[in-house]
Amino acid sequence: MSVTRPLPHDAARLHVTGEARYLDDIPTPRGCLHLAFGLSTIAAGRIASMDLAAVAGAPGVVAVLTAEDLPAENDVSPAPAFHEEMLSTGDIQYLGQPLFLVVATSHLAARKAARLGRVTYEERTPILTIDEALAADWRFEEGPRIYERGDPEAAIAEADRAIEGSIEIGGQEHFYLEGQAALALPQEGGDMVVQCSSQHPTEIQHKVAEALGVPMHGVRVEVRRMGGAFGGKESQGNALAVACAVAARAAGQPCKMRYDRDDDMVITGKRHDFRIDYRAGVDAEGHIQGIAFEQFCRCGWALDLSLPVADRAMLHADNAYHLPDVRITSHRLRTNTQSATAFRGFGGPQGVLGIERVMDHIAHTLGLDPLEVRRANYYAETRGDPVHASPQNTVQERVHTAADEDPNSRGAVEAIEGVATPTPSSPDVQTTPYHMPVEDFILNAMTDRLAETSGYDARRTAIRDWNAANAILKKGIALTPVKFGISFTLTHLNQAGALVHVYTDGSIHLNHGGTEMGQGLFQKVAQVAADRFGVDVSRVKITATDTGKVPNTSATAASSGSDLNGMAVKAACDEIRDRLATFLAERSQTTPDKIVFADGMVTVGGERLTFEEVVTQAYIARISLSATGYYKTPDISWDRIKGRGRPFFYFAYGAAVTEVVIDTLTGENRILRTDILHDAGASLNPALDIGQIEGGYVQGAGWLTTEELVWNDKGRLMTHAPSTYKIPACSDRPDIFNVDLWDAPNPSETIYRSKAVGEPPFMLGISAFLALSDAVAACGPGYPSLDAPATPERILAAVERVCG
Ligand code: MTE
Ligand code: MOS
Repeated sequence: MSVTRPLPHDAARLHVTGEARYLDDIPTPRGCLHLAFGLSTIAAGRIASMDLAAVAGAPGVVAVLTAEDLPAENDVSPAPAFHEEMLSTGDIQYLGQPLFLVVATSHLAARKAARLGRVTYEERTPILTIDEALAADWRFEEGPRIYERGDPEAAIAEADRAIEGSIEIGGQEHFYLEGQAALALPQEGGDMVVQCSSQHPTEIQHKVAEALGVPMHGVRVEVRRMGGAFGGKESQGNALAVACAVAARAAGQPCKMRYDRDDDMVITGKRHDFRIDYRAGVDAEGHIQGIAFEQFCRCGWALDLSLPVADRAMLHADNAYHLPDVRITSHRLRTNTQSATAFRGFGGPQGVLGIERVMDHIAHTLGLDPLEVRRANYYAETRGDPVHASPQNTVQERVHTAADEDPNSRGAVEAIEGVATPTPSSPDVQTTPYHMPVEDFILNAMTDRLAETSGYDARRTAIRDWNAANAILKKGIALTPVKFGISFTLTHLNQAGALVHVYTDGSIHLNHGGTEMGQGLFQKVAQVAADRFGVDVSRVKITATDTGKVPNTSATAASSGSDLNGMAVKAACDEIRDRLATFLAERSQTTPDKIVFADGMVTVGGERLTFEEVVTQAYIARISLSATGYYKTPDISWDRIKGRGRPFFYFAYGAAVTEVVIDTLTGENRILRTDILHDAGASLNPALDIGQIEGGYVQGAGWLTTEELVWNDKGRLMTHAPSTYKIPACSDRPDIFNVDLWDAPNPSETIYRSKAVGEPPFMLGISAFLALSDAVAACGPGYPSLDAPATPERILAAVERVCG
């Protein structure tokens, strides 16, 4: 059976040998032209004059386009409610905004010429910070959005103790290794083919069609793979694809564009930075009685995906905790900076960090172990079924049922259903602040297991002793949980399609709407296809995502790639397999359910045929060997204005313990050890899932420690290259790094009972941040109130504060 096997990434060999083709590796066609944007050098104002003669006269320049030269729409916004100009028509909203487009015979010629524009401006004072945006009341929605339940003010007032504080949370540059890139190939009759590095080929198709003024059928978009995306290629590639298409149309020649790293960092949006103010009332054991959050979200200049990002921050303000009386207020603030965009977790990490800070603050105030405060506030485990009592056994059971008794494995899902169907929820079921019942909570048991395997209690004591004996270096430890909602909160996006062909030699051509960005989606989905036909995964050819094969797709995002596309592929494969089974059954006077597909063979009564023989015979009998598949997530509905409903199909869980050491004289620090227990459901591929967990954790820890974005008071991004913007290096990986899967089937009916894994582990990096806070707290009586990222400078300042 192919599913559940720890197979390597399908392109692993190609990645490491350099054979894997990224956009810039595709041999450019003859006559290909290269593009670069001329960028604004101020953050706010209007263009007074723009003299592009020197640009046009520069060596190798073929054309220079401004907004006036565009044939149709000049709008690259992913949000219909906002007009985001690709080239400014006069208004300047951030430093780095594209003003004109250079078309040249080489990449270098285009870039050099782009700097020769003579632009004068009428400058305005830019609005750059959260406080400036608040003072100007410059927002994307009128007033703040508020989700409220009960009477948090009364609950806080009546509680034994009240705590109050604030945390600043920095943004994050995606730093995908492959920068943004696109290539447009003009076709006959005005059609356009676009190859690009995008998580959302359908959006590129839509935007290119609008920009050219042609129907969507005139544009075909293809994406083989991205060299990392992390949310930064959901919408931020629109401008490049549109620019290439428009220039290719004008020149009648292929056009290619890629951003150099500096341009990529200066032009494109990043993670939203936040400030979160909190007030909570607690009892003596640290139970939260009432809580009020105020989330200030810096969205940058364009709407982009900021509303759903800010929504998801609100939806994760509870993380793993039952908040009885609660108010979450969210301010979506506009600033003259890059338009903040999707980034792994999509606002969730900021919301989760808010409540995790509160837990830490409560524990410090009451003199309790933060883990005890967390446990005291956890949602209750609502289901006492055997699945979670003995997860390892259950998975064994599942594998045996599927592989041994019913290799056809359609029955496997039913067998699992028998084990994992949720017990009916109790009438007074616990709900989130947005009134969704929490019915699959497993963090109590997961936390017990992780605390035990990581030796949390003993290490806490050992660290206390070690700190008492060491004056300069201080250690800290923190265990933090994650509960992450899986589904797009815009309900209609939760759908997917697939296209499967079986050829007469028994090889399988697989296509679906998801894109590959390194996360291993293609391999997981190929494993599903192989399993449905009972053949080896090597028979399955994974093909580039193509809007001409599967239309109207959603972005590969919200971690739902394998949930959605896996199910769509399963539907397509089962359709073909059912046709084959019906054909064989009729021929052998039996029923289709008696036909078994396994180990590359098809068994019909006593007869055993190879898969190739079956498909060849079916072809000769004129049976179609091609099918589409479709899936939509059941049981979800959400009213984002009221803040009520069931936005998520299920939750994914995880927990991490991180131990750190800081130098109290310099603020320098390192991670000594990390233990993770993560819930990927019944994993489709444990090797890929563990890779996602390790990568997610390190990226999350990087966000909160070394990765600092700095803008100067003119709105210029000062950290626009790896020389000044520090992502984690191999040497920043924890010295000891233990990652385990909680390998229990998802009680919700997902593909083979697996769970989405792309984003949730990112938030495990919060344990590194709070371990640093714990180490600082060892220096004196005060509460560290660390802001993120916890750079050496901030740690040093916090050490001085707590000693204060
Ligand atoms: N892993 C790698 N290697 N590269 C990436 O760009 N993106 C993350 C995550 N893991 C990413 C990654 C993000 S933001 C998401 S939403 C998911 O992968 C998307 O893929 P999935 O839905 O197939 O998990
Ligand atoms: Mo991921 S931020 O949903 O692309």
